[in-house]
Parts: sequence; C-alpha cells; structure tokens
Amino acid sequence: MFQLLLSIYTACPVYPWLGGVWSWEAVVVKSSVFARSGSSAELSCSYSTHAAQGFTLEWRYAAPGSPAFQAKRVLYYNGHLYWVDSWESRMALVQNPPTSGVASVKILSVQPSDAGLYICDVTNPNDWSGSGQGLVNLTVLVPPSVPDCQLSGSTYMGNDVTLTCKSSQGVPAPIYSWSREKGAAPLPPTSMVEDQRSGSLMLTNLTAAFTGTYTCRASNDLGEAACNGDTAAVVGGVLMGVFLVVLLIMAVVIYLCCCYRKRAHQHTEKNELRWV
Ligand SMILES: *[C@@H]1O[C@H](CO)[C@@H](O)[C@H](O)[C@H]1NC(C)=O
Ligand SMILES: *[C@@H]1O[C@H](CO)[C@@H](O)[C@H](O)[C@H]1NC(C)=O
Repeated sequence: MFQLLLSIYTACPVYPWLGGVWSWEAVVVKSSVFARSGSSAELSCSYSTHAAQGFTLEWRYAAPGSPAFQAKRVLYYNGHLYWVDSWESRMALVQNPPTSGVASVKILSVQPSDAGLYICDVTNPNDWSGSGQGLVNLTVLVPPSVPDCQLSGSTYMGNDVTLTCKSSQGVPAPIYSWSREKGAAPLPPTSMVEDQRSGSLMLTNLTAAFTGTYTCRASNDLGEAACNGDTAAVVGGVLMGVFLVVLLIMAVVIYLCCCYRKRAHQHTEKNELRWV
C-alpha cells in the first residue's frame, strides 16, 4: 500500500503551473521557459537511467495550437546525432553526447516563431522504467511593434467615432492607452470610453473641443511603442464638420434670398402687367 502511494506520488507533476519542474517517471524537464526574442533559451531536460545499448533521445516540436502528438522531430540521437532541417544551425546540445543524464538543448537566438511545445523523449530498452518524455512550453517574449492606429466613423459634430490601436506583435499581449496632446481642452469624461485590452477609444457626441491629436501607446514588460499617426482626421473632420454646417447655413440663406428676390421680382412683374 505504501509503495503504491509512493509510485503515484513520483508520477505526479510537481507544480507544473508554477513553471517549475515536471517529474514524469525518469525524465525531468522545466515545463515553462520564457525567453526574449533574440536571446538564447535553454530547454532543460534530464534523466536518471543509465544510457546503454539501444538508448535514444529525441526532441520534437509542435507549434502553438497544434497538438503534441503532431510534434515534428527536431533531433534524434542513437549513438549518432541527427538534426532535422535547419535546426542544427539554430540549436545545440548542452551536453554532447547526451548520454550522461543531460538531454537539454539550447536555442541560440530565439525567434517569435520558435514559441511552442518541445518534447524531450528518452528511450532506454534496458530500463523501460527509466524511459519517458517531458513537455517544455517555450514562450517567446516580444516587445510591442509600432501599433496601427485607425479612426472609424465620420467626424461631424454630434457624431460618435472610434479610434482603434493594435500592435501586430507583442508577447505578453500589450496594454493600450490613448492620450491627447499636452494642454488639450478637457473633455467630458462620459464622452470617452477606453478599452486598454482591445485598444479602442470611443468618442461620443463630438464637439469642437475634441479637435486635437490623439496618440496611442502600446506597452508590455519588454517595452513600448506609440502610433506615430496623430489622428489628424479628428482635427480636420471636426473642423470640416463646422465648415460644412457654416456652408449649409450660407447655402440656405442664399437660397432663401434668391427665392425671395425672385418672388418679389415676379410680384412686381405682375404688378407691372396689371398696370400696363
Ligand atoms: C504555453 O504558455 C503560454 C504562456 O504562458 C500559454 O498561453 C499557453 O497556453 C501554454 N501552452 C500550453 C500547451 O501549455
Ligand atoms: C451632445 O452635446 C450637446 C452640446 O454639448 C448637448 O446639448 C447634447 O445633449 C449632447 N447629446 C447627447 C446625446 O449627449
């Protein structure tokens, strides 16, 4: 009974959710690895079996979103070392040959596309209990890219518009914050709704006070970037709105004047006729 409990315990994962160590029979990996884009990353994997005749080590990789069983072979060792595709120039064994308990590999310069699941698979036919595999989840940290900022809606007085801001890259997901230029007229707080996760800023019931430059800043732990596009459209648009209203009023005034004159003219003509 005691032995049974003990073997269940050793087969249990040890705090994988803390990015700690996953103990799977004989193979032990660091289950969560975080690396900055451009730096090196060690995918740690060790085993306790004594490598003998028939010993193999295999590393496999599955891109984020694809299941572990679809993982593609990256390297294979069976006394000889075989690399698949371009991995040889990008990855190195920490201990070569990997026969004394360390199966770890190092990615030399991590790219965002290297993120995903890596499987360290040790097979030792002389000791099946010492065979097993461990899963390593590599997260590549990337500073936010310069966000793309856009305006949707027409910037006429009384209208609502939405400004959107989105970085195509950034891990962890960036937080977005919108700001106006220094010294800008304060806006009624209820007329601005900002969502820092999605990057949207909704401006409601536009007035001339909204005229100005709006800048969005995307930030995460690794850095920040701002959209250089000041939303000139808000400036131009609100002014254009005012301008159009003025034009419209002028047009109406001119039209009314003309009609009045025409009618007055017709009226006098009639009068004249009457007098002829
Ligand atoms: C890997 O880690 C990332 C970031 O912590 C997480 O979002 C993702 O769900 C993990 N993937 C797996 C397969 O555990
Ligand atoms: C829009 O703003 C104008 C002027 O500030 C105000 O009179 C009007 O009530 C506002 N409309 C709405 C729907 O908030």
